[in-house]
Amino acid sequence: AVAAAAAGRFDLARTLSQMLHIPKVLVVEGDSDEEPWVIDQLGLQAGQYLQTILREGDIVAVTGGTTVAALARNMVVRQSYRNLQVVPARGGVGETVEYQANTIASTLAEKLGGTSMMLHVPDRLSPGAVDQLLTDPYVQERLPIIRASTVVVHGIGDAMAMARRRQVSAEELAHLQARGAKAEAFGYYFDQDGEVAYSMKTIGLRLSDIRHVREVLAVAGGKRKANAIAAAAKAYRIDALVTDEGAAKRLVQID
Ligand code: BG6
Repeated sequence: AVAAAAAGRFDLARTLSQMLHIPKVLVVEGDSDEEPWVIDQLGLQAGQYLQTILREGDIVAVTGGTTVAALARNMVVRQSYRNLQVVPARGGVGETVEYQANTIASTLAEKLGGTSMMLHVPDRLSPGAVDQLLTDPYVQERLPIIRASTVVVHGIGDAMAMARRRQVSAEELAHLQARGAKAEAFGYYFDQDGEVAYSMKTIGLRLSDIRHVREVLAVAGGKRKANAIAAAAKAYRIDALVTDEGAAKRLVQID
């Protein structure tokens, strides 16, 4: 029965890889919407995969969120890199500290033996404040490093769930709904065709930077994220996806 279940997940992964055009897909057991331990499995698998692709000299950008936090938490201590930097993909100060990209970057760097760089910039700022911060030496020193990332590790959120979590205004929520936002990743909201429905004015990695990144790793599970994963896969290049059975089974029904 164990072997059959593993074979089932292998088939699911292969189907998803073709369907989403993601070369590498890994599916862990369970549904993180139903069982809390599944997120740790997601994190563990994604962390193990990350270890296989990291190279000396890499700049690894990480987003915040509970899933990428689970990756950092479950990462096996290796401390073998001499020249590895872990950076937050965006400022992202605003969420619970544990789930902020800065915190995750520092945990991950500690485990891998690299260094981390912080970017303390609030997630929600007025456009004027963002423009002003962009001229600030603190930001000007850090932003080019983030935008030169060679590896990106990110979570994918359901658009509406993320909008509520970020406590957007009723107006913004209505706008997202009207634009048909389905997915959210590093501050961008995407509709089901992968078109940008809305982008937060924040400081950090931009969608256009993804093109220069060697490896884009997405970690997202739970059946409630199936539509979001499908939308994100259309929006930008994802090289590897670590997901769970809950999301995978729902995803194969979408087409
Ligand atoms: C955010 C990331 O912090 O976490 C997003 O910037 C992602 O890319 C979100 O959509 C996912 O959060 P979680 O908690 O569902 O892993």
